[in-house]
Amino acid sequence: MARILTGITSNNIPHLGNVLGAMLPAIELSNKAENESLYFIADFHSLISLKDAEARKNSINAVAATWIALGFDTQKNILYRQSDVPQVTELTWYLNCFTPYPMLANAVSFKEKSDRLSDVNSGLFTYPVLMAADILMYDANFVPVGKDQLQHLEITRDIAERFNRQYGDTFVVPEAKIEESVMIVPGTDGQKMSKSYNNFINIFLPEKELEKVIKSIKTDSKGVEEPKDPDTCNVFNIYKLVADATQTDFLRTKYIEGGIGYGSAKLLLYSTLMLKFSKARETYNHLMANTQELDAILKQGAVKAAAIANPVLARVRHKLGYL
Ligand code: ADP
Ligand code: TRP
Repeated sequence: MARILTGITSNNIPHLGNVLGAMLPAIELSNKAENESLYFIADFHSLISLKDAEARKNSINAVAATWIALGFDTQKNILYRQSDVPQVTELTWYLNCFTPYPMLANAVSFKEKSDRLSDVNSGLFTYPVLMAADILMYDANFVPVGKDQLQHLEITRDIAERFNRQYGDTFVVPEAKIEESVMIVPGTDGQKMSKSYNNFINIFLPEKELEKVIKSIKTDSKGVEEPKDPDTCNVFNIYKLVADATQTDFLRTKYIEGGIGYGSAKLLLYSTLMLKFSKARETYNHLMANTQELDAILKQGAVKAAAIANPVLARVRHKLGYL
């Protein structure tokens, strides 16, 4: 059995890029009988940048509801809120004392963010140590992450190996699982879809609002009859990620031959999204209107997660002479 673990920071509502690039592939992994998956909502991490309590609660619910709506099986697997197993903060302290300062100071993500952000707090600096604790706390074997998180996984492995050398085998040394084939989902302006660029598509928006976002996708100004290049068109590039092969070939041919306008292509994308995510939208809306159901699922997840975390923490305490 392999234990798979990954977290999503709760500082926004998951968008189509998160869904196609990270969440659906992770769900596919979690459905394999030989895997046990722990997927969690990194709400301690969110405090680094998000200070508003209501926004945090809303994002925690949205991330949890998205996992469930997309089909994550919370009976077979474990879905939990990071802060519901606060033992992770104790482990973070221990790991802090095994993390060389320069390793954090040289982390690319810290350097890049500390140059850009006005609030450069110590949480931003020690963020990779909390992430290491998230992973090591649960004896995870594989951690599916985007390429930007690879260095944080190396830091985690480094801390675990350092500790194991000094105290004997204590932590499982995890491996990053990068899906090379994973698509980069373009946003409405053609750049990588990201909440930072405000070019994202929230697939859970009410119909009219979603339609408006789809209509805002940038295109050139070619007329209906003119032949168009599918490969440079943002509408087509998003469409091909959600439509099946036959639908994609059909639209590609239409573009090349001419005879379809961008307005119609956008409507096609809109209806394909609505169809593909109709069940997910229903479940998501139900859960967001009944957050006590979400709370119950998350609490149940936390009980299962704590049952894994507690013995690991006891192991560490023992090695360090605290028990
Ligand atoms: P954002 O760029 O909106 O802040 P995050 O950095 O929080 O998104 O990403 C969370 C997860 O979703 C990561 O695993 C990341 O690789 C994936 N992801 C984010 N945007 C995209 C995208 N446009 N295409 C594919 N995957 C994405
Ligand atoms: N840092 C990750 C991100 O921003 C989120 C995260 C926190 C995480 N803890 C984790 C991912 C542990 C994998 C494992 O995307």
